[in-house]
Order: sequence, then structure tokens, then C-alpha cells
Amino acid sequence: MTAAFALVAGAGAAVVTATPDWSKVPGKTITVFYPGASPIEWITKGTEHGGAKRLRKGETCGGCHEEETADMGKKMATGQKIEPRPIKGKAGSIPVTVQAAHDASNLYLRFTWKPPAGGAEKMDKDNATKLAVMLEDNKMERANLSGCWEACHQDTRTMRDAKDGNRTKYMVGGDVKAGDQQVVTFTRKLAGGAEDDITLAAGNVCNLGFAIHDDHAAGRFHHVSLGYTLGLGADADIKAVKQ
Ligand code: HEC
Repeated sequence: MTAAFALVAGAGAAVVTATPDWSKVPGKTITVFYPGASPIEWITKGTEHGGAKRLRKGETCGGCHEEETADMGKKMATGQKIEPRPIKGKAGSIPVTVQAAHDASNLYLRFTWKPPAGGAEKMDKDNATKLAVMLEDNKMERANLSGCWEACHQDTRTMRDAKDGNRTKYMVGGDVKAGDQQVVTFTRKLAGGAEDDITLAAGNVCNLGFAIHDDHAAGRFHHVSLGYTLGLGADADIKAVKQ
């Protein structure tokens, strides 16, 4: 299997030529939520998660959960469910406006949200906020259904069965804070460039998931999106507008 999940390069790694006129790009609101300790093993095993059976039959996470991610996040952030280490005051969810555009050579993604009140212990002292994006081109089984969860395993750093303290899948994104809104913009060459990057072209549809570490959070203590499709000029949950 090649280039299953690829991280989009952060601002520092990208050469920005022209930026899109974001005022002309429609935004989609996606509510990322606090996932607690819900690795793909918990999701698919079926002894505790009611969705396992229909997921196996091809239902997406969003098909069942899209409308209720804020409620789900609240349950886990408060420790009511599958969170052995709740963080006092942690937001259950964050609504994020997602915009996408592309031109002949680049894909541009823009994320805007209002950071929730913080104040928890600083797990990552150096970074107040991190945003990670995963793009996947239908090479990995089930990634079209499960989004980020496909990369989330119970032996990952800070999870229950962690063996390797350094196992991680994140990258720091570039940010510019505008007023009380946090804005993060990624630029990536359609052809890729970094190791494991998938190749994109106009007309393609790929899978997208993203996560935000707010308030100096680290490891799994982040807010995660369900899986969505991203279309480059093609119909999808998020349509990258040609500019
Ligand atoms: C067929 C519908 C269905 C599908 C598909 C499904 N789920 Fe669920 N999920 C449920 C139900 C019902 C519950 C609540 C009761 C339970 O835990 O079984 C739940 C609970 C959860 C919870 C715990 C929080 C809560 O609100 O109880 C998480 C996290 C979760 N699902 C994530 C996912 C993810 C991620 C996927 C895709 C990989 C997924 N689910 C697919 C039906 C579904």
C-alpha cells in the first residue's frame, strides 16, 4: 500500500505563490469533537460501540453521528464516557469553518474557529494550537468510512496500551490569529512533495479528516472531525473551488 494517509505540509514548508480570494470561497461548518479514548479497535469490536455492525456493512461514521458530534464531545470531555482522564473545563466540541480552493498547481485549505476558553495544564508548552490534516486517496480499507479513526490505535502515545512514548502522527500547522478567531491556512502542491503525500488532480475526490489541539493540548487530548470527502472541482462534502 502506498501513501495511505498524508499530512498536508504546514505553512513553513510550503512555497506560497498566490493565495486564493477566500471571500469568494464558500465555507462548510464542521464540528470537531473531543473523542475521548475511542480507538478504531473500540469502534470496530462491537462489544461497547453500537455502530460496529453497520460500519462493517458500509455505513460511514457521519451517517450516524454527523448531527450529534457536539453532544458526543460533551460526554467524553466531561468523563461521562470513555475518558479515564477528563480535563477540567475542556471544550466538548469546536465548530470550524472549512474552505478549500485549488489552482493548477496547489490545493489550499483554510480553517477558521473561535478558540474555546482554555486554562488547563500546558501539555505542549511550545504550541498553543496545532492543526493536522489527513488526506487519503481510497487506498486504505475503510478510510472512506472512518476518517481519522483509521489512524487511531489503542497503542498510540497517551492511549491505554501505549508501548512507544514517541508514536505520533501530528505536525504543527501555521497559524495567524485574527481578532478572536483562529485562522489556519495550508498550501500544498497537488503533486505532493513530502514523503507519503498523495497525488491530487482536478476532478479527484479524496478523504479528509482533521484535528485541532487547542489550549496547549498534546497527544490524544484533541478535537477530531469525522471523515469527509474533499473534491477538487468535483462534488464532495467539501468542494475545493478552482481559482
Ligand atoms: C450505525 C450507526 C453508527 C455508526 C456507523 C458509527 N457509530 Fe459511533 N455510535 C453509535 C451509537 C448508537 C453510539 C452510542 C451507544 C454506543 O456506544 O454504542 C455510538 C457511540 C460512539 C462514540 C461514543 C460517544 C457517544 O456518543 O456515545 C464514539 C466516539 C463513536 N460512536 C464514534 C464513531 C466513529 C468514529 C465511527 C466511524 C468509524 C462510528 N462511531 C460509527 C452508532 C454508530
